[in-house]
Amino acid sequence: MTGELMVAECAAIVPLSGVLVWYDYLNHRHLRLSSRGLELVGMFQHWRRAGDPQPADGARGPRADELQQLLEAGVLKVRGGPRDLSEQRVIADWGEDLLAARIFQFATRTSKAQQFVQADDAAEMLAERNLEQQRPRLCRQPNGQAYRLACGSALEFFGDSSLVSALLGRRSVRSFESARTVPQLAFSSVLQLGAGAREVQQAGRFDDSFKRTSASGGALQPVDVYCYARRVEGIEAGWYYFDPVRFELARVAAAAADAEICIAAGDQRFFGAAAIMLLFVAEVRREFWKYRSSRAYRVVQADFGHLAQTFGLLAVEAGMASVVSCALRDELVESMLGLDGMHEVPLGAMALGYEDDSARLAVRQPGLVGGLGAADGVEQPAELALEAC
Ligand SMILES: Cc1cc2nc3c(=O)[nH]c(=O)nc-3n(C[C@H](O)[C@H](O)[C@H](O)COP(=O)(O)O)c2cc1C
Repeated sequence: MTGELMVAECAAIVPLSGVLVWYDYLNHRHLRLSSRGLELVGMFQHWRRAGDPQPADGARGPRADELQQLLEAGVLKVRGGPRDLSEQRVIADWGEDLLAARIFQFATRTSKAQQFVQADDAAEMLAERNLEQQRPRLCRQPNGQAYRLACGSALEFFGDSSLVSALLGRRSVRSFESARTVPQLAFSSVLQLGAGAREVQQAGRFDDSFKRTSASGGALQPVDVYCYARRVEGIEAGWYYFDPVRFELARVAAAAADAEICIAAGDQRFFGAAAIMLLFVAEVRREFWKYRSSRAYRVVQADFGHLAQTFGLLAVEAGMASVVSCALRDELVESMLGLDGMHEVPLGAMALGYEDDSARLAVRQPGLVGGLGAADGVEQPAELALEAC
């Protein structure tokens, strides 16, 4: 075996139910490590060639078939090989000080093959789960003194307010008119107030920033908004990047088949009908440049939540309906938009358009309501057939 070898760096060794598991979070693989496997992993903590002399600790040197197996399993990598190159990119963007965020991001990045739980199955699955493990309470009831608050006073207090109407009018809608076009002014107004810059501080320095109608941790605005304009007056169907400062839509990809978009959105059919789909994508470098800690990744997710809620309220004000979704096949979304899948991270999507009222009266079709995908993928780890010492 030629070339230098080392253990894959985007992986962890985790004790799980009494066995040591090699967790390759880039490829979502779990492998049970035998004591010999562990010994070999220890030998390749640094780059070395298969035939390099053994440390004088009495350990048996690696055999060619063992190395081959570890390479095939992705436990070892070859210097300059495809695994090494993609790991170097991950490490460059998600360095060691962001280790926990890195593991979380890549362990939860969904592939093309990701299965999404359908509404029909979800109900049955949850009923079964409830037998094994009762659903946690809906809310707490602490024992301390309680004040009963005036229920209904908010409407009196706020009076005839469009904010209250938008708050009360917002709900998730999953059936959209599949022919009605959104006027360009409605679309651009929603975008302007939803994600456009409200105030720009541009001194051409490292602390340039802009503000939006939603708060953003450190005003770093790590979340970008992409739009799929399916039916917007005067705008050719396709994918666009919304530039919040220049207030422009830059085309990034041509129109896609509705079915393709549904698949990318976790098989949720309404994404193929709504006039608009928004995609919230984090450029994590923007956040991590300032905050070099894994906890900053929580801030990125919270920023997305703030933006999505603002868009949900604006949709109501514009006479439209919306639903936000985190069920995405990241790999498909990335390739559709030309995102690099490393530091440009799809966080969630929103379907936006006019509600199909006829469907509202019908029984809520179980349809496909994407869940968050299968459980963490901790299936029984495959065993590496390396003999124990
Ligand atoms: C972060 C987040 C992710 C969601 N993901 C999905 C989803 O993938 N598919 C879906 O149909 N609804 C999704 N929803 C919508 C929720 O199901 C919905 O908000 C919830 O049922 C409450 O209903 P309401 O929005 O009408 O108040 C999501 C909501 C949030 C906040």
